[in-house]
Amino acid sequence: MNLTPDPTFNLALTVAFAIVALTVVAAPFVASPYGRFATDRYGMSLDPRLGWFLMELPATLAFFAVYLQSPERGEPFAMFVAFVWGVHYLNRGFLMPLFMRVPKGQKSSFGLMVVVIGWVVTALHGYLNATWVTALFPERGVAWFSDPRFIVGVLLYYGAFFVNLHSDHVLRTLRTKDEVARGERHYRIPRGGLFRYVTSPSYFSELVFWVGFAVFTWSPAGLYILAISAANLVPRARDTHKWYQERFPDYPAERKALIPFVW
Ligand SMILES: NC(=O)c1ccc[n+]([C@@H]2O[C@H](COP(=O)([O-])OP(=O)(O)OC[C@H]3O[C@@H](n4cnc5c(N)ncnc54)[C@H](OP(=O)(O)O)[C@@H]3O)[C@@H](O)[C@H]2O)c1
Repeated sequence: MNLTPDPTFNLALTVAFAIVALTVVAAPFVASPYGRFATDRYGMSLDPRLGWFLMELPATLAFFAVYLQSPERGEPFAMFVAFVWGVHYLNRGFLMPLFMRVPKGQKSSFGLMVVVIGWVVTALHGYLNATWVTALFPERGVAWFSDPRFIVGVLLYYGAFFVNLHSDHVLRTLRTKDEVARGERHYRIPRGGLFRYVTSPSYFSELVFWVGFAVFTWSPAGLYILAISAANLVPRARDTHKWYQERFPDYPAERKALIPFVW
């Protein structure tokens, strides 16, 4: 792909979309081995808190390594994206693992394979987006802040980001702290918020906020993270929906898998 004048960026983007293509082919048949779909079949597993932290770390390191060395780091748009990125990965890479309720003494449930593949995905994500906003994004100055693509993208991004935080919070607090301390790994039916309509509102909002991100950065790097997330989360949402329906006879029949009222 020779989309930009930067050959390293173009090569990384080509590798990134090749990984998307492989994921589209493989993910419908191989559930990511973590959480409720954990398995020993693919080798060693880690504590999920450590797994999430390690897997997401390259997104922060790669982004800020490029951003902080760039002469364009003081550009208003680059600074804005660095802020969005910092908040996003503070949540995903640090706070989410910290607040996960992992039952005491539980067998490790986050496949090392997920972490290793995740490193490639998150490192590319950090590098591509930081390079785009510092060196390749054609708009400079503050004019982009009043462009409809920027405004719509940011509204979509933050609207969905808060739904994602809420949905993750509901899931996380379905187990009480006492149960976790006793080593009990209960699963319950989540309710409220967007759970009224879909089984996986975290995944739905994740995809919507990456749509927003791709729109407000108007970038192929944004399209990459949207595509790889969809390739992972659409099959996982399907499997999760089926898992709830099989496990809970009273599971709400009107609830869809991922997209409200549609699927
Ligand atoms: N961009 C991407 O490609 C991508 C990929 C994956 C995830 N994510 C995002 O990462 C976040 C977490 O995703 P995830 O796949 O880890 O979610 P998840 O499988 O639903 O698990 C989230 C946490 O909630 C617990 N939990 C889930 N359902 C529960 C229930 N019914 N009862 C009690 N506890 C329950 C899980 O425990 P257990 O671990 O014991 O199951 C885990 O601690 C989401 O915001 C998601 O969108 C993004």
